[in-house]
Amino acid sequence: MGSFSIDKVRSDFPILQQKIGGRRLVYLDNAATTQKPKVVIEALNSYYRYENANVHRGIHHLSEQATLAYENARKVVKDHINAPQEKEIIFVRGVTEGINLLANGFGSILKPKDEILITALEHHANIVPWQMMASKTGAKLKIIPIDKGGEIVWQDIENSFSENTKLLSCVHISNAIGTVVAVERLSKIAKKFRVPMIVDGAQSAAHLPIDVQNIGCDFYLFSAHKVLGPTGIGVLWGKEDWLEKLPPYQGGGDMIERVSFEKTTYKNIPAKFEAGTPHIAGGIGLSEALLYFRGLDKEVIMKHEAGLLEYATEQLMEIPDLRIWGEATEKSCILNFSVKGIHPYDISTFLDSKGIAVRTGLHCAEPLMDFLGSGATTRASLAFYNTFEEIDCLKDALTKAVALFK
Ligand code: ALA
Repeated sequence: MGSFSIDKVRSDFPILQQKIGGRRLVYLDNAATTQKPKVVIEALNSYYRYENANVHRGIHHLSEQATLAYENARKVVKDHINAPQEKEIIFVRGVTEGINLLANGFGSILKPKDEILITALEHHANIVPWQMMASKTGAKLKIIPIDKGGEIVWQDIENSFSENTKLLSCVHISNAIGTVVAVERLSKIAKKFRVPMIVDGAQSAAHLPIDVQNIGCDFYLFSAHKVLGPTGIGVLWGKEDWLEKLPPYQGGGDMIERVSFEKTTYKNIPAKFEAGTPHIAGGIGLSEALLYFRGLDKEVIMKHEAGLLEYATEQLMEIPDLRIWGEATEKSCILNFSVKGIHPYDISTFLDSKGIAVRTGLHCAEPLMDFLGSGATTRASLAFYNTFEEIDCLKDALTKAVALFK
């Protein structure tokens, strides 16, 4: 059980003390990437300064130190998501690479007429790799529909499955509109149809306690940089039997057992999926990030984030002609909005001039935004280190933007 003091937490993040154009930074682009606490920055610095060596290869002191630290990160990740075994944790570059790895692996199983099931809420990273694999194998992409509020249409969901469904890949929290998908409920349906389930946890890992066994999925993925860690490293967890069944993604050093010009044999998992020198510093940074996270009281954080979302929703709704996209009952702290008559790029540029960082555009979820009919929008995405005062700054700046542009 950890503790939570917003001032203490904010003092752990050096970048939050920064001024942008003479104004205090109000960082509301956490769904794109989270800021990093000092412990993560220091771990990266210390690794390169005192421990830098390649892993799994040398018997010298530094190599052994680096290997220990890197392999310890696997254990920290395993504990963080309650995975049954350390060897089921595969380090990848991020969720995007992890889904490409899985698409490549399932590509060896998929046949014409097979169906790949995803939802209408997906990020491009959970659409495009499947489309690419569908075009190679003759399989089809099938979409679980949502309603205009951004909620899965549950009453007809079993109609989306058939005897041809070979896998289900589903987002946990929509990066664009914040819908929290009841993945536990979905996994029960997938089990009924004997369909393996992949969960894209890019947004959920930083906002919900994750227990992959409780979710009941076969694979879960997240990116370190969205959970306070460094960019360029992420995690693919998969059940052992699936990871054994799927072929390696990339070939090279460290993933092999024996190599000759005639034949190569592969190491067991996780090495089978980790060709080449990995992002060693990244693994160590990720481990520090998760340990930092573990030190915070999850219940208090979740309550704080829910409070921020409720307050921000109320405040933004007071702005004339502002519309919020995404009205799911279970929603994470993402506010995706547009103001009638004002281009979202003008809004974001104006907010930036006030030191407020948000994202603009289609949020790597073009089919979703098309379905909602929103066009490009502005997105404020919150984290536990955000404050109610920052929401006031956002509202104040938006009110000024409306006065300026209308
Ligand atoms: N997927 C990230 C976002 O939602 C980059 O902004």
